[in-house]
Amino acid sequence: MQSPLPSGCRLIPLEEHGDERGRLVAIEQSRDLPFEIARAYYVFGVGVDSRRGLHAHRTLVQFAVAVSGRCKILLDDGSINSTVMLDDPATGLLLPPMVWHEMTDFSTDCVLLVLAAAPYDEADYIRDYDEFRAAIVRSAR
Ligand code: TYD
Repeated sequence: MQSPLPSGCRLIPLEEHGDERGRLVAIEQSRDLPFEIARAYYVFGVGVDSRRGLHAHRTLVQFAVAVSGRCKILLDDGSINSTVMLDDPATGLLLPPMVWHEMTDFSTDCVLLVLAAAPYDEADYIRDYDEFRAAIVRSAR
C-alpha cells in the first residue's frame, strides 16, 4: 500500500494498449497531464549507488515515468515524506513545485523519462535542503 504522498504529488495511470505484439503507452497532454509539455528528458545509465535529484523546483511541474526498469523517488514537501517506486511504464508521477525529491536504487536498465512544463532553467532549482525548508516556512507565513 502506498503511503500518502506530499501535497500535489499524484500517481497517474496511463492507458495501455497491449496485444500479442507487445505493449504501447501514449501520453497526451490534454488527456493525461495537467500542464503543457515544453521539454522531455530522460535519465539512464545510473549506477546502483548513485543518487539523483536532491533538489526542489520553485515553479516547475513535471511528470516522471520509468519507461524501463525501476528506481525509487523520495518526496518531501516539508511536512509529508514518502517514497514511491517507479517501476511501471504505464504509471507516472506528477511532481509539483516545492517538493524536494531524490532518486535512488536505479536498476541498471532504468530509463526515467521526465516531461516538464518549462525549458531548463537553473534559477528554478533549490539545491540546498536548508534553503528549501526555509522557503517552505516563508511561504506558510
Ligand atoms: P541535474 O539537474 O543535476 O540532474 P538530476 O536532477 O537528475 O540529478 O542535471 C544534470 C546536468 O544536466 C546539469 O548540468 C544540468 C543539465 N540539464 C540540462 O542541460 N537540461 C535539462 O533539461 C536537465 C534536466 C538537466
